[in-house]
Formats: sequence, C-alpha cells, structure tokens
Amino acid sequence: MKELYEAAYAARENAYSPFSGIKVGAAVLTEDGNVYTGVNIENSSYGATICAERTAFVKAISEGHRKFKAIAVSSGNVNEALPCGICRQFMYEFSPDMLVITGLDSEHLIVRTLEELLPKGFKL
Ligand code: THU
Repeated sequence: MKELYEAAYAARENAYSPFSGIKVGAAVLTEDGNVYTGVNIENSSYGATICAERTAFVKAISEGHRKFKAIAVSSGNVNEALPCGICRQFMYEFSPDMLVITGLDSEHLIVRTLEELLPKGFKL
C-alpha cells in the first residue's frame, strides 16, 4: 500500500494543471499485480479536464485490465485527495470492492473501500 501511494505521489510531477495549480497523482494496482499511474490533465476548456484517477484507469483498461485491487491518490502533503464523484462512478464500473488509499504521506495512509465512498453505486 505504501509503495502504491509513493507511486501516486511521484506521478504528480507530470501533472498538467496550469489553471488550478493542483498536482494530483494516482496509481492503480490491477488484479494481476500491474501498476499504472496517472495525473490530472487540465484544459483551456475547463470541462475537458481529466482527473488523475481516470487517467490511470484509462491507461490500465486500454491495456486490457478489467479488475483492480486498489488505487492510491495524492495531491501532496497538504490536502487529502479524495476521488471526485465522476471518478468514483468510473471506478465502480470495474471494481466496487477495490481499496482507495489516500493520506497526506505514506506513513499515514487512509484506506477505504470504493463502496464506502460510493454506496449503492449505479451499475447496469
Ligand atoms: N482532480 C483530480 O485529479 N482528481 C479528483 O478526484 C478531483 C480533482 C483534479 C482535477 C483538476 O485538475 C484539479 O484536481 C482541481 O479540481
């Protein structure tokens, strides 16, 4: 878990966030042990922005992964980076029981299930 959080923290370096100035990093662990990182990528047309969590998921899904054990998210040492509602729903599609790891540093991790963050999520 610590390793996954550290990968998320390090990924922040590549965030593209000239508008908010907030650098978010995510690292998702697939069922078979692969790790994909992602960052937030903002856009001049603000609504076209993609969050770090979905960037990581999109990378993993497009490489063929469908089941995930955990995702770690970090926006640095000041604020806890909780996934937004769109990201919660996006991840729920694939692995409602996965863990969501946050916290201000890797020594003080906060671990929740996705189902705790999105109770009774939508699924066809
Ligand atoms: N952001 C994420 O990357 N993940 C979230 O779950 C919440 C928000 C990003 C989007 C935007 O670039 C910045 O944080 C401020 O909203």
